[in-house]
Amino acid sequence: MSNGRALVTGGAGFLGSHLCDALLAEGYSVIAVDNLLTGRLSNLEHLRHEPRFELREADICEPLDCGKVDYVFHFASPASPVDYSTHGIATLKVGSLGTFHALEMAKKYSAKYLISSTSECYGDPLQHPQKESYWGNVNPIGPRSVYDESKRFAEAVTVAYRRYHKIDTRIARIFNTYGPRMQLNDGRVVPNFMKQALRGEDLTVYGDGKQTRSFCYVSDEIDGFIRLAKSSESGPINIGNPREFTILECAQHVLAVTGSKSRVVYQPLPVDDPKQRCPDITKARELLGWEPKIQLEEGLKLSLDYFREALGKASAA
Ligand SMILES: NC(=O)c1ccc[n+]([C@@H]2O[C@H](COP(=O)([O-])OP(=O)(O)OC[C@H]3O[C@@H](n4cnc5c(N)ncnc54)[C@H](O)[C@@H]3O)[C@@H](O)[C@H]2O)c1
Repeated sequence: MSNGRALVTGGAGFLGSHLCDALLAEGYSVIAVDNLLTGRLSNLEHLRHEPRFELREADICEPLDCGKVDYVFHFASPASPVDYSTHGIATLKVGSLGTFHALEMAKKYSAKYLISSTSECYGDPLQHPQKESYWGNVNPIGPRSVYDESKRFAEAVTVAYRRYHKIDTRIARIFNTYGPRMQLNDGRVVPNFMKQALRGEDLTVYGDGKQTRSFCYVSDEIDGFIRLAKSSESGPINIGNPREFTILECAQHVLAVTGSKSRVVYQPLPVDDPKQRCPDITKARELLGWEPKIQLEEGLKLSLDYFREALGKASAA
């Protein structure tokens, strides 16, 4: 029995693979499209014998037709600073060409469409916490611009297809999410600290560590996407955990959860690193009845086995 068919671009990635799991659990058939630029087959290994699941290795920057679908979830894009810096042009292409192609699929089959946008649309925000109505403070030519502007353009294309072609679109603005299946070396705070703590290395804090971030555990984030997809809200809607932590506090939580005796060391702040990032989730609360349930310490505990195992595999290799 299937509730319908969903396409997930970027389905072999961190969030995309969890989304495939959630859609299958909701009764959908799922086709994941991924060119494995930053994703991994191991994220989908457990679905190898699932009859309602299919993986197509393809680049969404090329036109694509995977047959009738009821939902298109456009999640393909390098997402971590390490990945989008390495693949700057590919990031701009997947946000532009890839978004057009994903929307064309939605248009052809009158499917509902949800795009994974980002808090990076707010840049280094001058408003705090960030509401969806804030237009952002983005440097269009800085080192992060390949990602930020790609996503801002992707939002503009999405809204244009809604306006001109009457496509039923949704925009999720995703804030920092963490959990199992993250890449160990993607440069984001949680995998960095977990890796360093579990290896007994110093934890590297950039700047004075007083800059804040919010951290959303992956199951909460995915629940937000599913609620948004099922709702009639077009967004943009912030999906993230509004609880703010300084980077130093995050380091301390990681040390406590891992039981590590590592020290914290400081390095200069990268260019354009936002000083504060925290979602205002009033819209998600009121319109989707959504709010995160898992706080940082619990989420880190839930991620610990994954990071231990991934580190074991990395050192064995
Ligand atoms: N993880 C977060 O905290 C976060 C925050 C904000 C936004 N997002 C957005 O969520 C989405 C998923 O992020 P993630 O953390 O899972 O990243 P990820 O790198 O783990 O996954 C992205 C996937 O997209 C695939 N991909 C990239 N270019 C492609 C192309 N041209 N054709 C087909 N597949 C392609 C990659 O191979 C990878 O599997 C991204 O769009 C990202 O911008 C994530």
